[in-house]
Amino acid sequence: MRIGTVGNGGMAAALGRHWVRAGHELMIGGRELSRAAATAERIGARSGSLREATAYGEVVLLAVPAEVVLETLVELEFAPGTVLIDCTNALDQRDHSLAEAAMAEAISSAVPHAHVVKAFNLAADTVWRDAPHRFEGRPLGVPLCGDDRAALERVAGLVRDLGCEPVPAGGLARARLLEATAALAIGTWVRGGDVRALFPPLSAA
Ligand SMILES: NC(=O)c1ccc[n+]([C@@H]2O[C@H](COP(=O)([O-])OP(=O)(O)OC[C@H]3O[C@@H](n4cnc5c(N)ncnc54)[C@H](OP(=O)(O)O)[C@@H]3O)[C@@H](O)[C@H]2O)c1
Repeated sequence: MRIGTVGNGGMAAALGRHWVRAGHELMIGGRELSRAAATAERIGARSGSLREATAYGEVVLLAVPAEVVLETLVELEFAPGTVLIDCTNALDQRDHSLAEAAMAEAISSAVPHAHVVKAFNLAADTVWRDAPHRFEGRPLGVPLCGDDRAALERVAGLVRDLGCEPVPAGGLARARLLEATAALAIGTWVRGGDVRALFPPLSAA
């Protein structure tokens, strides 16, 4: 499948690397062509402007800071039915609360003819970059929120390409729960808490 990225940073490179290896055609899109080209060269992808990458991708990964997402989208065109993966976390770095309570829904309102799927926002780029994605003998679960069944199936396939397990997590209205979960986890981790200890196996209840 043809995948474009809006952004040439850590997340675009980490996820894109695996998708190239899985046989997808990837275009890294950047606002500065030389930076997009450098990232693309590292992972064996092609590169282009943000507009070229969105036009190229049947699936587009949105991987820019949350605070610039909406203004960036205004400049771009998406073919109707484009699957738009939102991995952003609108984290307020001062207190690790959310600067925007429902980012995926705001993105969907800004690009109503695209199918937004929230995914990949719960783990750091280093986790996505470093395969294999198995922990304690199990594949990493990746919750997906979205309203379009075919779009969810496409993103589920991209999750499996990483060796991870897609976890259906409801419609796009529930994406705000994934965003809040990321804020909780990051805030806990920054304060030295053990995020892994928060959700013990059910058998321990
Ligand atoms: N890193 C993580 O561990 C992680 C994990 C989960 C989710 N996320 C989310 O993923 C998204 C991308 O994170 P990242 O770690 O890949 O970020 P990053 O490495 O800092 O890369 C950010 C990308 O956004 C571009 N950008 C920055 N400001 C821009 C602007 N004003 N207009 C257009 N493009 C701009 C940068 O372009 P230039 O190269 O031209 O500056 C760069 O390509 C964020 O929303 C973040 O919350 C990150």
